[in-house]
Amino acid sequence: MISNKTFTMIKPDAVKAGHLGAILHDIIQAGFKVTALKFTRLSPELAGKFYDIHRERPFYQDLVTFMSSGPILAAILEKDNAVEDFRKLIGATDPQKAEEGTIRRKYAASIQENAVHGSDSNENGQIEGSFFFSEFEKV
Ligand code: PPS
Repeated sequence: MISNKTFTMIKPDAVKAGHLGAILHDIIQAGFKVTALKFTRLSPELAGKFYDIHRERPFYQDLVTFMSSGPILAAILEKDNAVEDFRKLIGATDPQKAEEGTIRRKYAASIQENAVHGSDSNENGQIEGSFFFSEFEKV
């Protein structure tokens, strides 16, 4: 099923480097509408819970430490075919493999510090959006 919503985080590396405004601008220019927005910081516990699906992967602990290392911007985005189109806009997980012009290619430094998260399925988009936002915070 094609969904019109996805979930994103602008990660601590991109916030620290001052890319927050530029990345949001790119997202909006690409036709996504922001329907929920929160500037916050994940505790290690919350980051661990968010990434629980990756618990068995070798980088899990590093990922949790990184994602709780500073503030992030969390958002729900709306557009036709949102999940797939957003993953195209951000590019491959490893910025060195991401296509020219993608957000990760432009703003990310490494496979860990890769500037943005994008949901990988409609189902996960919904779960992740609800992890951060209550019903009345979504417009
Ligand atoms: S995806 O989006 O699920 O297909 O990507 P995947 O490659 O499976 O990676 C899942 C998340 O783990 C992060 N990641 C890493 N972090 C630290 N070190 C290494 N080596 C590493 N490899 C992958 C990656 O950035 C993904 O984070 P999110 O927030 O989902 O983009």
